[in-house]
Amino acid sequence: MKTILLLFIAYLLGSIPSGVWIGQLFFKKDIRQFGSGNTGTTNTFRVLGKSAGVIVLLMDILKGTLATCLPAIFSVTTINPLWFGVCAILGHTFPIFAKFKGGKAVATSAGMLLGYNPIFFIYSALIFVICLFITSMVSLTSMIAACLITLSTILLPYVAPMILPKQNWLLTCIAIGVTCFIFIRHRENIKRIKDGTESRISFGLNKKE
Ligand code: G3P
Repeated sequence: MKTILLLFIAYLLGSIPSGVWIGQLFFKKDIRQFGSGNTGTTNTFRVLGKSAGVIVLLMDILKGTLATCLPAIFSVTTINPLWFGVCAILGHTFPIFAKFKGGKAVATSAGMLLGYNPIFFIYSALIFVICLFITSMVSLTSMIAACLITLSTILLPYVAPMILPKQNWLLTCIAIGVTCFIFIRHRENIKRIKDGTESRISFGLNKKE
């Protein structure tokens, strides 16, 4: 019973629509009406600027981290903590507080990794930043990084155990599932990438377009 309650709390945490609330509270703007219409970090940067973008990024990451740490906080050992992160990711994408229309699962998935293993999170963040420098598209970066991070869950225990010491097939399976989910959530972006109309960033994080 305690486990189910905590899984639901993890979903509720993920459901906090940071971008929507920050926009409505401090900018009197609904970010769903502007830019890509997405509620996540990238569109917050695009519509509300750098400070709001950084705050939403941190909030969206921390939702996933806190959810993944819930079983440790409340001494629940019945299921793997990663499942609490998964509930937060589902909350982020289908938020009860925003008519079930949420983000694209990227930042909260990163938060789950932070809660699971901070060193692996730093490694994953580095992969993301390198891909972003190469592609200058957050959407494409999110998809490529998700694939590389999933592959890393298999290879790192052999080649760099200081980053990921133990093979964890549940982590790999969840990473595969989250990667597929990230691709599905980016279907509009994929069309724009094919058309050559996807927005790019400059490294002042301003939109080039
Ligand atoms: O995390 C979402 C990002 O990958 C794409 O966002 O607003 O460009 O569709 P957006």
